[in-house]
Amino acid sequence: MSRGLFPTVNVCWIAALLIVHLDKASGARSHTCSEVKTAFQLRQIGPLKWVPEAPATDVNLLVCKHAGPSCCTRKMEESYKLAAVRDTVQNIRSYSFELKFLLVSHAAAFQDTYQSLFTFSQSHLISLFESTYTSLTSKVAPHVMSLFSSLSNFIQNTSNISVDAAVYRFYDHLFLLVHNHIIRPGIAEDSDLSECLRATRQDVNPFGQHAQTTVEELASAMQAARALTRAFSMGENLMNATEVAPLTSECARALLRMQYCPHCQGLTLIRPCPEFCLNVMRGCLANVADLDLPWRHYVAILEDLTHTIVGEHSLELALLGVRGHVHEAIQHAQLHEARIRATVDKVCGLSLAETQTTYPTTVKMISTVTLTPEPTTNSSEANVMKQMGRLSDLRREFIKYIVRYKAFFAAVPEMLCEGEVGRDEPTCWSGNDVVESYKGRVVGNGFLAQRHNPEVRVRGPDAMLAEVKNRLEHFNQEIQQHMPEIGHRNSWDLGSGEDSSGECDDEDGCQGSGEGTTKSYQSRSVMDLVLPTDLTEDVVLPSDPAEDIFLPTRPAEDEATDLAEDVVLATDLVEDVVLPTDLARDNTLPTDLAGNVVLPTDLAKDVVLLTDLANTLPTD
Ligand SMILES: *[C@@H]1O[C@H](CO)[C@@H](O)[C@H](O)[C@H]1NC(C)=O
Ligand SMILES: *[C@@H]1O[C@H](CO)[C@@H](O)[C@H](O)[C@H]1NC(C)=O
Ligand SMILES: *[C@@H]1O[C@H](CO)[C@@H](O)[C@H](O)[C@H]1NC(C)=O
Ligand SMILES: *[C@@H]1O[C@H](CO)[C@@H](O)[C@H](O)[C@H]1NC(C)=O
Repeated sequence: MSRGLFPTVNVCWIAALLIVHLDKASGARSHTCSEVKTAFQLRQIGPLKWVPEAPATDVNLLVCKHAGPSCCTRKMEESYKLAAVRDTVQNIRSYSFELKFLLVSHAAAFQDTYQSLFTFSQSHLISLFESTYTSLTSKVAPHVMSLFSSLSNFIQNTSNISVDAAVYRFYDHLFLLVHNHIIRPGIAEDSDLSECLRATRQDVNPFGQHAQTTVEELASAMQAARALTRAFSMGENLMNATEVAPLTSECARALLRMQYCPHCQGLTLIRPCPEFCLNVMRGCLANVADLDLPWRHYVAILEDLTHTIVGEHSLELALLGVRGHVHEAIQHAQLHEARIRATVDKVCGLSLAETQTTYPTTVKMISTVTLTPEPTTNSSEANVMKQMGRLSDLRREFIKYIVRYKAFFAAVPEMLCEGEVGRDEPTCWSGNDVVESYKGRVVGNGFLAQRHNPEVRVRGPDAMLAEVKNRLEHFNQEIQQHMPEIGHRNSWDLGSGEDSSGECDDEDGCQGSGEGTTKSYQSRSVMDLVLPTDLTEDVVLPSDPAEDIFLPTRPAEDEATDLAEDVVLATDLVEDVVLPTDLARDNTLPTDLAGNVVLPTDLAKDVVLLTDLANTLPTD
């Protein structure tokens, strides 16, 4: 092994030194561990004193074993492992935070928009009474409010009352008012009669088809809006679960081997081979990647639900249209006064009461006024039109972003590797050696594919993630049962993209081996997601042109990018190398360190770690 290793290593090492103009350190690798110390410091791995001055042999090393002396000790190995896990978890969270925020913020924006639509539609309806059926206004107002608050609760899933129940209940009360104030104005209030009128509205049918029409127009958009509320909640719940999903100990060892074992050999610059990294991350995230297919289905459901809500302004028209239906319903009752009176007499036994009531014809005249066009008030066309289109704007924005996350769960391993691996470098770290290219088999995504993973042993499915996957699948099914037209896609559309999707739909089948995989690794990440390709960032947008850049970023990235640039400048100018002992005392700001630091290819990463982990400095 060492025979094969050393020539390659030397080439790499010398190349690195040339770049950095560090002639002085050329002998360091064999004689001292000062580079390792520097990196140990920069990446906040642990107390500096743990790193030996010179390579030695610790027979207790568990993972980073290699022939020859090592700059690592068992203790260092352990803290490297913790650091690798900590950084990976943090990176995963920073990616999933973006998606969670997208869901949570749009859930709130949809609720706000519904709310203002309810408020407007409510005063729109009340204004009908104010302008046209003045005598009913004060009595009907509480029922109007109750109607809209029921509808609002329905959408928010905070009550069980159905749309039809809420609407019919409103018309029941309306019937009583119309009867007492329009059909028989001046009739004495009578609780038995009131009860009877409310209870028999559907039999008496004073409003013709208009009550039912109101319900029909509201039903499907309201149902979709409620389902969307549930969907947002499901999505947030899913993100909550994946956020806290632990990495297994097998994964931790693989991360250690990938990220830090080279340090033990003094190779602090070498980056893992891309395919090696992919195997490690896919092994670590097998359970997360298993969410891929139900998640794509879920995104399709989101697209369809929001379309049902805003397509042709369904919900907006339905809610704003309530006023018109109520108006027509009352007119219908006026036109059928005689029949209604007769029927009420029969079912509510009113004939006696009625003979005692004389109602002035002047009042009746008022009701005929209602057939004239209603005056334009705040409910004017222009104001109503202002309510239209807010939901579609919201949908457009939301869909634009969410479809970019369609492949999120399958792409997390790739996204993590983007920040990890070197591109276009002549050599890379394969887990054991510095090589020109990784020779191992590259496995696909998902739990089943990991049977062949050469880098990480993946045991059972993670119970918590399996449970949340179940819940997501169950949710998708339930939506489709209740709303059969929602969320249907053929498997091609659910796939990961035009070029690489088809064969990836069954969990095991994607990317059996080597050569095909590298291609799909790249095409996929560009196809479905906008990925940070490296820290100094060229953004590649898959579909839309630059106007709508949306980038899953790490929180510290902007800062890190700036720093990285500064650092490159600094290293060009710096000639003197600062001793590790100086660094040891100077553990405050990345910029302070940056002027002194030597490793350009490693810097971006180091700076990120340093910035992110500023609060977790080990003390000794
Ligand atoms: C909905 O109805 C179920 C029973 O059908 C009941 O257990 C639940 O508490 C109700 N929820 C609300 C919010 O009223
Ligand atoms: C919606 O309400 C029903 C019953 O009230 C409840 O079983 C269900 O969990 C709720 N869904 C969400 C996503 O809150
Ligand atoms: C997700 O987690 C946040 C905070 O941890 C919590 O407030 C929220 O209720 C959770 N959401 C769901 C749907 O579980
Ligand atoms: C109509 O608008 C005016 C001002 O624009 C406002 O003062 C008034 O309260 C509004 N009326 C209704 C019924 O909303």
